[in-house]
Amino acid sequence: MGKYVSVAIDGPAGAGKSTMAKRAAKELGYLYVDTGAIYRTVGYHMWLMGIGPRDADGIRRCLDDVNIEIQHQDDGVQHMILNGKDVTGEIRTPEMSKYASGVSAQKCVRDFLLDMQRAFARKHNVVMDGRDIGTVVLPKAQVKIFLTASPEERAKRRFEELTEKGEKASYEKVLQDMKQRDKQDSERAIAPLKPAPDAVKLDTSGNTIEQSVSEILAIVRRKLG
Ligand code: DC
Repeated sequence: MGKYVSVAIDGPAGAGKSTMAKRAAKELGYLYVDTGAIYRTVGYHMWLMGIGPRDADGIRRCLDDVNIEIQHQDDGVQHMILNGKDVTGEIRTPEMSKYASGVSAQKCVRDFLLDMQRAFARKHNVVMDGRDIGTVVLPKAQVKIFLTASPEERAKRRFEELTEKGEKASYEKVLQDMKQRDKQDSERAIAPLKPAPDAVKLDTSGNTIEQSVSEILAIVRRKLG
């Protein structure tokens, strides 16, 4: 891990990882890395190519054509560049959530993205969020947090997010999709969603964002001494 500090934040969809990880990173002056966005970008490429999210052979074949660049721009947004095109907005749809979850179960995809993620932690202090950061990507991270919240609360947050963006959504459908994605992410054979043995579990149900961010910062400060 060298001279840099890594804070790994894992947890299921809608637990508030990205919102809280981004704010905590800002407070700490660390680089925020959203790894879900990287899987979404691979999923988006497969969608563009007409490859289904479970088509293992098709995904393997198309992976060579995926060139991903991650740009951390001044607006605080992590921009995802796929083969030269900024796809930051395109990857944030319910359809791409399903694609990302599907392609992320493929070993070739996980292998393909592993070093890209680790490279950030070799060069920066990072707050990195995902599903397997504390278990696989950065097993030596100094701080590991597993964020959860009840499925109903997570679905409510995701539903509000979509509605705010002006997208038509139904709470029931969001809840159902989320449960399906949690199941798929937790039951896959490789790098499933699960807390690292040394992760601090934080349930954010009923918390405001500010409360959760200060709890995260308190854990980080305690761990770093
Ligand atoms: O965090 P997110 O919802 O944007 O992630 C989208 C999907 O990507 C998620 O359902 C599973 C996959 N993913 C993963 O397998 N490993 C990660 N470290 C991050 C995301």
